[in-house]
Amino acid sequence: MRVPGRQDCGRCCSGVRWMGALVLVLGVALFGTATAARGQDLESGKVTYDKYCAQCHGDEGDGQGIATPYLRPEPRDFTSGKYKVRTTPTGLLPTDADISRTIRLGFPYTGMPAFRENVITDGELADLVAYVKSFAPAFAEQEPPEPITIPQPPPYDPEHASTKGREVYESTGCGACHGTLGRGNGASAPTLVDDWNVPVRVADLTKPWTFRGGGTRIDIFRTMSTGFAGTPMPGFHGALPPEDIWAITDYMLWLSGGPQERVEAPYSNVVTARATSEVIDLAAAEDLFADAPPALFPLFGQIVEPGRSFYPAANAIQIQAVYNRDEIAFRLVWHDMRAETAGVNAPDLAVPSWNEQLAEAGASSAEDDPWGAPADDPWGADAAEDPWGDDAVDEEAAADPWGDDVVDEDGGDDFWGEAGDGSDAAGGEFSDAVALQFPQQAPEGVRKPYFIFGDAQNPVDLWFADMAKQEAELWTGRGSLAVVPGESELPEVVSSYEDGAWVVLMKRARTSRSSISFEPESFVPIAFSVWDGFNRERGNKRALSAWWDLYLEPLERPSPLPPMAKAFFGILALEILIVGFVRWRRRRRATGATTESPAAQAA
Ligand code: HEC
Ligand code: HEC
Repeated sequence: MRVPGRQDCGRCCSGVRWMGALVLVLGVALFGTATAARGQDLESGKVTYDKYCAQCHGDEGDGQGIATPYLRPEPRDFTSGKYKVRTTPTGLLPTDADISRTIRLGFPYTGMPAFRENVITDGELADLVAYVKSFAPAFAEQEPPEPITIPQPPPYDPEHASTKGREVYESTGCGACHGTLGRGNGASAPTLVDDWNVPVRVADLTKPWTFRGGGTRIDIFRTMSTGFAGTPMPGFHGALPPEDIWAITDYMLWLSGGPQERVEAPYSNVVTARATSEVIDLAAAEDLFADAPPALFPLFGQIVEPGRSFYPAANAIQIQAVYNRDEIAFRLVWHDMRAETAGVNAPDLAVPSWNEQLAEAGASSAEDDPWGAPADDPWGADAAEDPWGDDAVDEEAAADPWGDDVVDEDGGDDFWGEAGDGSDAAGGEFSDAVALQFPQQAPEGVRKPYFIFGDAQNPVDLWFADMAKQEAELWTGRGSLAVVPGESELPEVVSSYEDGAWVVLMKRARTSRSSISFEPESFVPIAFSVWDGFNRERGNKRALSAWWDLYLEPLERPSPLPPMAKAFFGILALEILIVGFVRWRRRRRATGATTESPAAQAA
């Protein structure tokens, strides 16, 4: 038999044949496999890499895969050795465990998927990490880095978090990038770029479930200590005492509604409209809404139909609802880096195709269109493997995210200005906007209109508010290419922007002849769209939600007082009777029979 391993071993053991078969076998087992494993490490790593990573991170590991034009942040350039999520101090390489962790967990709210054991085994993972490291010479040249030690956390104290935490946050200058309340709206936020000169969006610190470094208290402490290499996000290990790093960490937890860690997003499936007997006046409605339970819903980029938004600015919207006999009103809140109140927006605005955008940028469109040939579809081959697994964020994208028009139409990459160099901080062309979406008629059964602006059989109405105007518009959609001004009642709108958040109030008559009516104790499908003007979102390029439910609680909420009062007086009367009866019995026993009633005795 001429097995390579045995042949090698036969050669190396040629002088010691007398040692017999046992040594030969041992030699194969130890030496033979060791060389084979050392030689195969990178090879097996490359196989896994080419299969699962190259389409984004590039064949050469330079981050320039075929899908890169569609991804913000861009896939990591592994040749740089710069890693965002590390346990090591600023300026050092990550550990193997750091890289493995990222591959296993993925990065939420970015293109970086999670690869679980059913896709990449532990053995393959080790080889893969070695291969990924081989792209950057620094890994071979430098000593393996040591992780920082994370000291024992002090007990979480909301009072300390909101005072001392805020003080350190402000004195360290976090607000310049992240905004005073951490909503991603610092003054310099619109101008930040990473080491590759790609615009970088600052994190919204009120949403720890979006943190790539993880959302636990320990995770955030580590991110604060090590920083994100290759980005403007500094690390504070050694620069701030640990108690200060704990204080800012806790300030972030406090901002997100601590004291608990919010590792899971607190999303809802239903928003309950609170019934009120008061008049709904939008100009003075804050008190009315104070009592209405808020519901937070996730938003995704519209990537199913032409006009796609691969990196929408808004990732969640909070809604509250109140209604009375005549009207229904909504309060919408979402975080926005900067208010765009100049320019235009509308649900039917055209978004240039991918080729047109490239042509504007002076590129040769045909060559650079990553969807030019169907064979180039980076998702095609591996679609069955679905490394995204059951990740809820990709639920909608799972059903053929690119539709069937991957070849021609695409509006992707005019992210932060057509030039894409982050210098377009002027804005002003497109305004911010929001829309509430309802089916035009209450759906029968479970059938709902198509979630992207309805369909021909099941039109939707959009209550649209362009932040450049203080008035609402009504649009009717029968699909995203058939959105026209609507004909039923116009909603009213009042909007304001403060500390990085838009607050938009809208109301309309509760019932309608030509559109949906909101009946007490019923469920009505509701969906949302948000357009960020700074991100040049308009028309079909926007953040949107799936359908969720609006529930109207009963209009006549029975006042809790009368039943309680009844019970109170009932019990009092009963007590008087019993006490009286007992006394009467006692006296009767003592004095013999009497004809007086217990009540008379008690009195
Ligand atoms: C669909 C595209 C996509 C695929 C497939 C993909 N990645 Fe990524 N990856 C990204 C993006 C985008 C980022 C950058 C995210 C960021 O900077 O926030 C990233 C970042 C990373 C990072 C950087 C971590 C850091 O701390 O900076 C590592 C490591 C990584 N990917 C490894 C892999 C490996 C290994 C595979 C294959 C098993 C893979 N990725 C597959 C898109 C992808
Ligand atoms: C010069 C601007 C700048 C300053 C100052 C700054 N950050 Fe950041 N920070 C960023 C940017 C940009 C990102 C996102 C980087 C990215 O997406 O790659 C970020 C990311 C983060 C994240 C990461 C979230 C994750 O995905 O895991 C946290 C947490 C954070 N910053 C908190 C802070 C705090 C607290 C301070 C002050 C101590 C601070 N930052 C100071 C720009 C800054």
